[in-house]
Amino acid sequence: MSNMPCTVIVGAFWGDEGKGKITSYLALKDKLDFCVRTGSVNAAHTVWIGGKCYALHAVPAAFVNEKCRLMVAPGSNVEVAKLLEEITLTKVQDRIFVDPQASIIESKHSLQDRTSAHLKGIGTTGRGVGPAIEERVRRTAKLAKDISELKPYLADTVTEINEGLDSGKKVLLEGTQGFMLSLYHGTYPYVTGRDTGAAAICSEAGVGPTRVDDVLIVYKAFITRVGAGPMPGELTKAEAIRRGWFETAAGTGRDRRSAPFNFELAKKNARINGATQAAVTKLDCMFANCQGITVFDDLPNEGKQFIGKIEKQTGIPVTLIGTGPEANDVIDRRP
Ligand code: IMP
Ligand code: MG
Repeated sequence: MSNMPCTVIVGAFWGDEGKGKITSYLALKDKLDFCVRTGSVNAAHTVWIGGKCYALHAVPAAFVNEKCRLMVAPGSNVEVAKLLEEITLTKVQDRIFVDPQASIIESKHSLQDRTSAHLKGIGTTGRGVGPAIEERVRRTAKLAKDISELKPYLADTVTEINEGLDSGKKVLLEGTQGFMLSLYHGTYPYVTGRDTGAAAICSEAGVGPTRVDDVLIVYKAFITRVGAGPMPGELTKAEAIRRGWFETAAGTGRDRRSAPFNFELAKKNARINGATQAAVTKLDCMFANCQGITVFDDLPNEGKQFIGKIEKQTGIPVTLIGTGPEANDVIDRRP
C-alpha cells in the first residue's frame, strides 16, 4: 500500500473496528497528502497520539500528520458546531476543507432523531444524521455553501483530490461505521441511514472506482455492536468483561455488546467490498502477550495462528495488526 496512491478504509462489522487508529498510523507512516472524511458525527474515530486521546466526530483522523490536507466529503453530513469545535481542538484551521455540497445537520434533526419512536427502537446515536439524510433526499437540505461560519473552509474538495491523484499524491478515503450497518447490506432496519461500503465511500468522496488502488478492510480481533439488532454469537456482559472485550462507545458512552470474531462474515464482507488487504486491531485484547509488539515474528504463536486463520478464511493478506491504542502500536507487514 505504501506505493499505492489511493486507499479506501472500510469497517468490516458494526463499526468501532479501529479505523481511526489505522488512519492515524497511515497518515504518519505513508505521509498521506489527503484524507477525506465521509459519513457523519454518529461515528467517533478514536486517535491516541503521544498519550493524548481524541474521539473525532468530524475532523479526519489523519490530522496527526501536519502536512496532510483534510477534506470533508460532499456526501457527508456536517454538524457545524461540532466541526468547528474539533477544528479548534486539533488546530487544523489552515488545512481543513469542507466541500460546498456537504449537507448540514440542523438542531431539528437531532430532536427528531431523539424523539421519533421508530428510531428509538433502532437505538440510533441521536445525532440527527438519519433525519438530515431524509431532508437531503427530499431536496430541501441546507448545504455547507449556505452556512456563513463555514465560508473560510469551503473548497472544491473533489477537484482537489482528483487533481492530486493525477499527480501521484497519496489519498486516503476514511470510511465510517461498519459494513453490517449499511442501509443496503446490513441488518436492516437496524442499520444507519447510508451505505457504509467501500463503493459508497468512493461515491461520497467523489472518487471513481477505477481510481482506487486498495480497499483496506478493518477487522477488530473480536466484534462489538452498539444499539439494537441481531449479532451472532453475542456474549453476556459478564463474559465480555471476563475476556477483556467489554467496551463503551467513544461517541455516546453506551455499552458495546460483544461477540467472538466471525470468520464467515469476515470472508463475505471482504469479498463484497473488494478488499485487497486487511487490518486486524486489538490483537492485544485477544492475547495480552501481544501488547506493543511491532514485529510479526515477535508475536506469540497463538497470535500468529489467529492472523493466519483470518488470511486463510478471507483469502486476503492481513498487512496491518494493531497491538495497542497508540497510532504507532502497529505491526506493518506491507512490502
Ligand atoms: P444512527 O447512525 O445514529 O442512525 O444509528 C443507527 C445504528 O447505527 C445504531 O445502532 C447506532 O448505534 C449505529 N451506529 C451509527 N454510527 C455508528 C458508529 O460509528 N459506530 C458504531 N455504531 C454506529
Ligand atoms: Mg467509533
